[in-house]
Amino acid sequence: MLKGKFITFEGSEGCGKSTQSKFLVDHLTAQGFPVKLLREPGGVVISEKVREILLDRKNTQMNKECETLLYMAARAQLVEEVLIPELSQGTILVCDRFLDSTVAYQGYGCGVSVDTIKAMGLFATKGIVPDLTFFLDLPTEEGLRRRGTERDRIELRSMEYHERVRAGYHQIAQSEPERVVVIDGRRSKEENFMTIRTHVEKLLKIG
Ligand code: TMP
Repeated sequence: MLKGKFITFEGSEGCGKSTQSKFLVDHLTAQGFPVKLLREPGGVVISEKVREILLDRKNTQMNKECETLLYMAARAQLVEEVLIPELSQGTILVCDRFLDSTVAYQGYGCGVSVDTIKAMGLFATKGIVPDLTFFLDLPTEEGLRRRGTERDRIELRSMEYHERVRAGYHQIAQSEPERVVVIDGRRSKEENFMTIRTHVEKLLKIG
């Protein structure tokens, strides 16, 4: 029985999800909730090592199947080491990216079968699905501009690739409106945090 809550932030490069996830963790911590901030790929030693391989600009030969499996491998380790024990204890976990990222980036972006990703996702996550997901949406050009020139292996991909990722996120949001809240990344950080806070308070039945 998982007593905790699992909240994820998703979106394309430079959308502001890392800022919003930190705002949320600070806010919930100040309110006395047991809360932890995680990121994907990463969050635990093995998954952080996998992250280095995935984002290394030198790994130009990596094929889409290898890339998909590595994102899943990093996820499987995080699920086992952190998600299951913490959610069982009642912690609120806020994670910067999760399975939706693989559906958007490797599925819609690289053309890996979305059904295959979902099946692999079930294996890696042991069926854990976020209670609430915020998709911070931003026009692709604006997001990449915000990221600047220091780009990792994925960020270096074409504008068309990033457009497909963004369209993929919209598909996910449309297919699961109960779970996924779309946030306009062009609005101010403060305005967006107010919206996020309202949804989280509803989930936690506070406020
Ligand atoms: P970050 O920049 O948000 O930390 O994410 C790292 C990069 O990895 C980012 O470009 C998105 C990408 N990514 C995928 O392509 N698939 C995934 O499943 C995840 C979690 C991230």
